Amino acid sequence: MQELNIYKPIRAKLIKIIDESPLIKTFVLVPEVEFSFKTGQFIEVTVENVGEAPFTPSSSPLETKQLEITVMKAGYVTDAMHKMEVGQYMGIRGPYGRGYPLEAFYDKEVLIVGGGCGFAPIRSLLYNLKAISDKLRKVTLCYGSKTPGDCIYKPYITELRETPKFEVYRSVDKTDESWQEKVGVVTVLLDEIEIDVANSVTVVCGPPIMMKFATKKLLEMGYPEDKIYLSMEKNMSCGVGKCGHCAMGHYFVCKDGPVFTYDQIKNSPNIWM
Ligand SMILES: Cc1cc2nc3c(=O)[nH]c(=O)nc-3n(C[C@H](O)[C@H](O)[C@H](O)COP(=O)(O)OP(=O)(O)OC[C@H]3O[C@@H](n4cnc5c(N)ncnc54)[C@H](O)[C@@H]3O)c2cc1C
Ligand code: FES
Repeated sequence: MQELNIYKPIRAKLIKIIDESPLIKTFVLVPEVEFSFKTGQFIEVTVENVGEAPFTPSSSPLETKQLEITVMKAGYVTDAMHKMEVGQYMGIRGPYGRGYPLEAFYDKEVLIVGGGCGFAPIRSLLYNLKAISDKLRKVTLCYGSKTPGDCIYKPYITELRETPKFEVYRSVDKTDESWQEKVGVVTVLLDEIEIDVANSVTVVCGPPIMMKFATKKLLEMGYPEDKIYLSMEKNMSCGVGKCGHCAMGHYFVCKDGPVFTYDQIKNSPNIWM
């Protein structure tokens, strides 16, 4: 019997590239085989002759003909991706890991705190939450960037602001004359919002330092540890729980996460690195 190679990627054609900011691009891919994922799960992406890296799709999980990944330039693979052109192919394998448990959000307010490229998984989640908004009380997004030029998904933010039950608050660390919204780190937005903490869950995704301080602030606001959902990033290789690269305490982030509640991982070593 022929053995299935779990590491073999599916070919996916690059049909569009969107410049989101000087360091971030969104790639729209059409896989040669129908491909689906749950919001919050990740995929491994291969660039031929360069390597492989994990990304969380930023598109709607309800769309199965194409998918989008939003990628920050950070090293070898992401540099190569940023040099690619429409018509070229990437490889994708997955989806892997556990995404957001949407049923746990039913009848609740959802507070989402994001920063930088952490908006990628959050956008996928927001698409999904919009589709089930009749089951939710309210969705509040607090999103922080370094500068106005680093804010991504600008047209989508406009659309979201016009969507019933959705509220958007944004901040930047450093402002310029174009900026009409809040200045400061993303946690300053949490002092501004009206939220029924007792009837809400919260989702945090972004750079580790932002996740650390956002979690601290959410605990101070009274969120129970098991109502804070964190999307964790660790160095990965296999993506399927075999190599041990992504170990965090007794968890493998690729298999047991990447979405964890704070109470699951709070005693694991180096969670914010
Ligand atoms: C589950 C999961 C989901 C993810 N989702 C996303 C996503 O949606 N979007 C996204 O953008 N990222 C995402 N990431 C992060 C992404 O996987 C990494 O940025 C990517 O693996 C980097 O690969 P690379 O080969 O480009 O970088 P590498 O070459 O492996 O470099 C990695 C690190 O080295 C540093 N580095 C690289 N080159 C230099 C240099 N010349 N000088 C100094 N430092 C350098 C970089 O700062 C970087 O931190 C995710 C990670 C995980 C685990
Ligand atoms: S990446 Fe290999 S075990 Fe997680």
